[in-house]
Amino acid sequence: MKGAYIFIYFLTISQTLSLALATLEDTCKKVAGSDFKFCVTSLQAIPSSQAADAKGLALIATNLTIANYTHNLAKVRELMSSAQERLISSPQVEVALNSCLASYAVGVSDLMSANAKIEAVDIDGALVNLSEAWKRPIECEDAFKKSGMGSLLVKEDGFASRLVTLALKITVLIIS
Ligand SMILES: *[C@@H]1O[C@H](CO)[C@@H](O)[C@H](O)[C@H]1NC(C)=O
Ligand SMILES: *[C@@H]1O[C@H](CO)[C@@H](O)[C@H](O)[C@H]1NC(C)=O
Ligand SMILES: *[C@@H]1O[C@H](CO)[C@@H](O)[C@H](O)[C@H]1NC(C)=O
Repeated sequence: MKGAYIFIYFLTISQTLSLALATLEDTCKKVAGSDFKFCVTSLQAIPSSQAADAKGLALIATNLTIANYTHNLAKVRELMSSAQERLISSPQVEVALNSCLASYAVGVSDLMSANAKIEAVDIDGALVNLSEAWKRPIECEDAFKKSGMGSLLVKEDGFASRLVTLALKITVLIIS
């Protein structure tokens, strides 16, 4: 009798685990297309993603994007100080970096607003803020294009764009 309970217990746990994993992978299948692997890898890095529903995954994706935008802000500051130190700074690069700094700073507030609205299940409101946040890495790339210099943040802007796109698409799933 005791054995049977233990068996059922483990059966329940393993079913719960595979169900949760299916949720993460199913969610990534629905939203990520060719970025499926990136989606699974990014979200899996957060242990609570295993047991999260769409709302939980949206919050995790938004949080990851906040961390990434913050990382990019630090990178911009680092470029600004190294450009000044080495006197390699050109006015055009300076303008572009200032623009990126502003974009990512606003991007972090966009994402924090989005996060609060997802928590409150105001999904339409969250999508307004996420759409704004989505533009920030593009604005940064555009600033470099306008400067006529090559972008110093190709990798960072690309990674941030992929993450914010995931956050946006997973948030749409909550209401669809
Ligand atoms: C998101 O980040 C905030 C602040 O770091 C944290 O309190 C919260 O638990 C995180 N939420 C999720 C779902 O990871
Ligand atoms: C987020 O969106 C709301 C509209 O839903 C807007 O009023 C608010 O200013 C936005 N927050 C940020 C940080 O842009
Ligand atoms: C943010 O993006 C960079 C690439 O630009 C990546 O190397 C880094 O791991 C990411 N960091 C976080 C916290 O997501």
